[in-house]
Amino acid sequence: MEVVILPDAKTIAATAADAIVHLLAAKPTAVLGLATGSSPLALYNELALRYAAGQVSFAQAKAFMLDEYVGLPAEHPERYRNVIEREIAARVDFAPGAVQGPDGLATDLPAACRAYDQAIRDAGGVDLQILGIGSDGHIAFNEPGSSLASRTRLKTLTRQTIADNARFFGGDPAAVPRHVLTQGLGTIMEAKHLVLMALGRHKAEAIHHMVEGGVSAMWPGSLLQFHPHVTVLVDDAAAARLQLADYYRHTYANKPAWQGL
Ligand code: GLP
Repeated sequence: MEVVILPDAKTIAATAADAIVHLLAAKPTAVLGLATGSSPLALYNELALRYAAGQVSFAQAKAFMLDEYVGLPAEHPERYRNVIEREIAARVDFAPGAVQGPDGLATDLPAACRAYDQAIRDAGGVDLQILGIGSDGHIAFNEPGSSLASRTRLKTLTRQTIADNARFFGGDPAAVPRHVLTQGLGTIMEAKHLVLMALGRHKAEAIHHMVEGGVSAMWPGSLLQFHPHVTVLVDDAAAARLQLADYYRHTYANKPAWQGL
């Protein structure tokens, strides 16, 4: 796991964008994994700018979303499919149908989850997965206690996540759906490169457990310690509880230029 401590959201976004632009230049048909939440928003802005500047094209790429609320009406602005459309998909040149997400309106939710895992496999797997982390340590919507081998499935949100996400629903926790579909931890672990972004002091404990704690379903992100290629991009506040912060800074400052992320 490579931990990169950067000064601000803009630098974190630019660093993640570099990795995506580099991947698409080398492999225009790459499969991206897209996350919602506020953490990747600056990255999506950066990618839209680079696309407008002619520096990157998504025309042959595919993308899979991490998760979706169950039951939000198709036109609801906070439905993750609509969020991703607004924040990134509509701002670049993805082909029609190239961006997929779990179907939170399916009548047979378990079948929709199985079909989603299969669609990811059929596309050849995710090359680069963007991730955020919840303040309770969840990855996608894999809440504490999630099976470390889980596949895409239905989950019930914790009170903490409902409270955290109420800001997207007019501050009203009662308006946040109780159920979601989420790629499982086992599904996410199959992506070739995981790029996780976290900003702010409220993420410091989760980042500490994820990077330096024991691997445990209590802190689902800690499973990433078993992945061979993880990049964790954090600001100083999110890095505040990392015991080896000085080492991570030293390592990044001395990183061979050829290595990339
Ligand atoms: C939601 C999403 C996660 C995201 C998390 C953190 O729960 N399902 O994918 O990582 O929020 O969100 P934020 O980046 O807004 O803190």
